[in-house]
Amino acid sequence: MSASEAKTANPFIPSLNNAVIAGTGSHLPSRVLSNADLEKMVETSDEWITSRTGIKERRIAAADEYTSHLGAAAALKALTEAGVKAEDVDLIICATITPDMPFPNTASLIQEKIGARRAACFDLEAACTGFLYGLEVGRQFIATGAHQTVLVVAAEKISAITDWKDRNTCVLFGDGAGAAVLRPSATARGIIRSCLGSNGALAHLISMPGGGSQHPASLETVNNREHFLKMQGREVYKHAVLGMSQAALHTLQLSGLKAEDITCILPHQANVRIIEGVADRIGVPLEKFYLNLHRYGNMSAASVAIAMDEAAREGRFKRGDFLLMVAFGAGLTWGATALQW
Ligand code: ACO
Repeated sequence: MSASEAKTANPFIPSLNNAVIAGTGSHLPSRVLSNADLEKMVETSDEWITSRTGIKERRIAAADEYTSHLGAAAALKALTEAGVKAEDVDLIICATITPDMPFPNTASLIQEKIGARRAACFDLEAACTGFLYGLEVGRQFIATGAHQTVLVVAAEKISAITDWKDRNTCVLFGDGAGAAVLRPSATARGIIRSCLGSNGALAHLISMPGGGSQHPASLETVNNREHFLKMQGREVYKHAVLGMSQAALHTLQLSGLKAEDITCILPHQANVRIIEGVADRIGVPLEKFYLNLHRYGNMSAASVAIAMDEAAREGRFKRGDFLLMVAFGAGLTWGATALQW
């Protein structure tokens, strides 16, 4: 018997299950920071921010409202929507670049807040692509039958790492969280295919240099403002349009779908001009893209998760429709996921 025959015959490896999104939820902090507010903080204007990015306002979490609070609130809504009890969750994956603290992982802190006592927990860090990475990792646990209920939370308090003196970055970001419950599906519905990628050679384009093993926190790292997000926006922009377009087209091809089969595209919400560029390149009208960046700005991993929840609640798609998620972020990472709702 060859190795591959032995593997197929292994009774402990069941046939693969489809993973379906059984429920979604999102949570935004209540404080709104408008472009007019930012005009009072740095040398900028509503006109510049709106014309260059499409962003009008963003949400900012309170000092005592951490990433785990935002994530837990979104998670509870997703569980309610899915009709799943917290104690039935097998695994929590939290996608974030703004954990409550370097360790323990934020998923464990969310577990405690929602009472998911049985769950295994870990964080996953792929910046703005984090929700797509989290869904794909969660899908694989469902596919193998290892877990029945996986909670993927994408939560960010980007305001905690924002340099409020840097007009190049502080106008772009906001706080929020989204969550999705993955369950096995008896039908063909569910996640069809994900394409994920990364190019570490471009890691320097978006980073927070301080606080890790390379530059442990010190008076010097604080004085050098190394504990804030740094970004070379113009460079990232070019890679974002190309990376998102290629990931979207590749995923469509591998899924056996055409652009016209897609009812709604849920893109990462960094900049409306990036999304217009992607729409052009993949040949899908902009109206099919769900946009909420004018209200929330770029919420890193949380952006696509919140877009999915809001678009679903607004009835932008119905059961059986094909959706495409596409994202891009620090790493540089990128990804796209096709699914049947
Ligand atoms: N207000 C006014 N002027 C500004 C501001 C501001 N807030 N910010 C920058 N400027 C100035 C710059 O100083 C520059 O002036 P100069 O020409 O005199 O040097 C000028 O505006 C133009 O700057 P650019 O950087 O060329 O502006 P651009 O049109 O590229 O827009 C932006 C900048 C919005 C950052 C854009 O490049 C972008 O969206 N990049 C991609 C961001 C992204 O996708 N990030 C992904 C993930 S983030 C993550 O993973 C956490």
